[in-house]
Amino acid sequence: MAESPISSQSCHATLTESLASKDEQADLPWWKTTVIYQIYPRSFMDSNGDGIGDLRGIISRLDHFVYLGVETLWLSPFYKSPQADFGYDVSDYKDVDSIFGTLEDFRDLVKECKKRHLRLLIDFVPNHTSTEHEWFQRSLKKDGKYKDFYVWSDGKVLPDGSRARPNNWLSVFGGPAWTWSEERQQYYYHAFLPEQADLNFRNPDVVEEMSLTIRYWLDHGVDGFRVDAIANLYESENVFQDNPRSGKDVPSTEWEYLTAVHTDYLLPECQNLIMHWQKLFDDVQELDGRERFMVLEFYTDSKTRADMARYGAHPFNMDLVEKLSTPLSAKQMMGLIALEYTDKPPSYWPTFVVGNHDRKRVSTKFGSLYVNAFNLLLMALKGTPTTYYGEEIGMEDIHVDYEDTQDPWGRKAGPDRFLEFSRDFCRTPMQWTPDQNAGFTTAQKPWLPVSSDHTFRNVQNQKQDPNSHLNRYKDYVALRTRKAFKYGEIDLNCLLTDNVLSFLRFSGSERYLVAINFGQIDATNDFSVSPVNASTGTVVTDTAAASSELTKGQLIHLQELTLRAGEGVVIEL
Ligand code: GLC
Repeated sequence: MAESPISSQSCHATLTESLASKDEQADLPWWKTTVIYQIYPRSFMDSNGDGIGDLRGIISRLDHFVYLGVETLWLSPFYKSPQADFGYDVSDYKDVDSIFGTLEDFRDLVKECKKRHLRLLIDFVPNHTSTEHEWFQRSLKKDGKYKDFYVWSDGKVLPDGSRARPNNWLSVFGGPAWTWSEERQQYYYHAFLPEQADLNFRNPDVVEEMSLTIRYWLDHGVDGFRVDAIANLYESENVFQDNPRSGKDVPSTEWEYLTAVHTDYLLPECQNLIMHWQKLFDDVQELDGRERFMVLEFYTDSKTRADMARYGAHPFNMDLVEKLSTPLSAKQMMGLIALEYTDKPPSYWPTFVVGNHDRKRVSTKFGSLYVNAFNLLLMALKGTPTTYYGEEIGMEDIHVDYEDTQDPWGRKAGPDRFLEFSRDFCRTPMQWTPDQNAGFTTAQKPWLPVSSDHTFRNVQNQKQDPNSHLNRYKDYVALRTRKAFKYGEIDLNCLLTDNVLSFLRFSGSERYLVAINFGQIDATNDFSVSPVNASTGTVVTDTAAASSELTKGQLIHLQELTLRAGEGVVIEL
């Protein structure tokens, strides 16, 4: 019995001119046709047996990406750092932490990537430095130009002459965002840990140092950056203003207790800074003709993303990371997806993400049944997708006891609440083989435990199985070599039910229907109606669902097509 479709109008996306893609757009810049893969260096591959992943480890696994067909890597931080926030607390922007290797290793990584035609994006963490950074140490001493490198405040003088913080701002990781420095007799602001002091971007010397940092890595041959915590770069200049209460029922020390109107939104200054960085890219491109790409970490809404694109910025679209409800609703998903193609300026380019090193994995959040469905969705949508390491084999979060918790956010939350905050669960070592520690390290004890399911869930085993997550992922990436997926158009105005979403990708006479059942029950639907207007098609790839009747190359009828729960299919029309 066929399901009754929800009005197809509800998924109608207004396609902007910017997205109108004709064959002549085959020369899209590389970052519009690529797949980005996020490597969390601590967890990817350990080459020296200390239990922590490193750059040589990554080099030794580069052929993984050649196998998958993935062309761009994004490396989370590998800079010199005391590792208070695992590298997001940089103490020297121009050096590699000895845990990860040396600058020479980095240069080799660039070379080895080039050999394989892989692009390299690196994490850039401009908002804050480690308090061990020389700049902070000199700022403590009010030393020359470093005096105002950070956000310092005398705080409020209380009637009894003592000092109090200038405002109620909270740190993202919980607790006050101001810490008193005995040495300087002032408070400094930190959006994250007290060990991560916020730089003062209103100081031109800071802007200059950071520009030099960007230039330094561009000169090392990187293809661009993922910019960390962009919304935190500037705070309201008048620090004697409290953030208002959010009304959320959370402890008063938690970040969500307040609405961060003075600290966590894009001030106009930020726009100028992003444009300034973009200009640095353009300057380098003029010299060597190579286009660079900068993608911004920002959890925001569709309208703000559109506004940002007007001045040339490319924020990640985090809607699928943070806005999907469970159990999944295809209608809700399609609503979020359609936003990405609606009311956007010509400079806008969609960037879809489902997970990262800060959030639960797909399998854990939605269930292992949907791993392939999400991988397929990401690769089939128009835009640039980003895959978090391990998603190609369907890795799951694992439990790490409070006693073994590494993540500062988890540790700060304490034994009763660490489960809500710890990010260790999604950062466990990559599972390469069924051997001890999944082939990640020869150490007895890796920095985080390896999932016990590595004995069957690993790259080596999945390579042997044509229906594995890995080989399906490879298929989905390969879709993007076809014109329709590489630079073709998307039409979202197709069949949509509570459980099933579908869309068309096309270029010239090439047309594909992508249909995915995100529900929990089988669904039979008529996909032949407009705009599909076809009664049969050939299966190109699917999600290899158990008991599925679909096989690659099979001719199928679209009037009554059954998709199992979690099943998706790409049909050439
Ligand atoms: C970003 C990173 C996160 C880090 C934080 C502070 O949100 O993704 O891992 O803890 O910035 O640098």
